[in-house]
Amino acid sequence: MTESTTPAASQALPKTIAFIGGGNMAQALLGGLLASGADSTALRVSDPSPACREALAALGSFAIFEDNAAAIDGAEAVVLAVKPQMLGAILTALAPVLTAQPVTPFVLSIAAGIDCASLLHWSGGVPVVRAMPNTPALLRSGATALFATPGVSPAQRAQAEALMAMAGTTYWLEEEGDLAAVTAASGSGPAYFFRLMECMIDAAVAQGLTPALARALVTETALGAARMATAPGADPAALRAAVTSPGGTTAAALEAFEATGFAPMVKKAMAAAAHRADTLAEELGVPSAARAHHQGDEA
Ligand SMILES: NC(=O)c1ccc[n+]([C@@H]2O[C@H](COP(=O)([O-])OP(=O)(O)OC[C@H]3O[C@@H](n4cnc5c(N)ncnc54)[C@H](OP(=O)(O)O)[C@@H]3O)[C@@H](O)[C@H]2O)c1
Repeated sequence: MTESTTPAASQALPKTIAFIGGGNMAQALLGGLLASGADSTALRVSDPSPACREALAALGSFAIFEDNAAAIDGAEAVVLAVKPQMLGAILTALAPVLTAQPVTPFVLSIAAGIDCASLLHWSGGVPVVRAMPNTPALLRSGATALFATPGVSPAQRAQAEALMAMAGTTYWLEEEGDLAAVTAASGSGPAYFFRLMECMIDAAVAQGLTPALARALVTETALGAARMATAPGADPAALRAAVTSPGGTTAAALEAFEATGFAPMVKKAMAAAAHRADTLAEELGVPSAARAHHQGDEA
């Protein structure tokens, strides 16, 4: 079950935030933080790539490190913004620094497929929040679901929410297991819409439109439809019905969609995404014995 929230006020932000990994997502969040007037002296980022550090320096005047341990010293929140495959080694190396801080920071992981039991195991048991953002976060139009382990305080929950609100809207989950469905809906979701756009553009070109016109019409239609569907009180089914006159062109198209098994196909595709999210946790996380050990920390 989920509890939806509105973007949190920037006043709730952690006093000092360290980003481990300064790539796309970190830069999106940092851009949002700077745009919302966050104190740049409170922001730190570490990344081993000189090119990435150069890109970060162009974003603003916050502290940039090559060394992860130096970046987290004194941080109230540590955002793990590295690829999931690297997270175990990076967090294990940081655990002694995290646990030795006078005030224990919380860790916010945005890595896909790494469960809280693994994060707790690698971090030495510091409070852990998991977040699943999506690509529109790069334009601060993302949708992020969050899950907090019981060790996370109400103040830290508010801080995690305020931080992810820099990437768009935020929603708290009560069950970590729901993150697989979130991954299937919003995490992977942008690609489904991109695929539909590709197919519509190809079909419009096949019907005689130029590629440029087909692309403009299809992408602007997607944007307009998304704006209508996200208006307060809007219902996609009602919006569809309102533009579908009996015997009309839209009805002809939608009948053809359903004749090809559109709804079951979408259900099957999202089930595949959720299943992959679950198997990723097993492939990239700690072995099941260590996971079971930390299940108690989450209960
Ligand atoms: N992008 C999205 O839309 C999206 C959506 C949901 C979740 N996520 C999650 O967000 C996380 C970050 O994704 P991203 O797209 O921002 O990836 P990214 O652009 O590749 O950024 C990761 C950064 O971490 C750096 N890095 C590598 N090893 C490191 C180390 N030992 N210490 C510190 N930094 C290190 C990488 O440097 P190099 O390039 O030199 O390796 C890179 O600059 C991933 O776990 C992903 O699953 C992303």
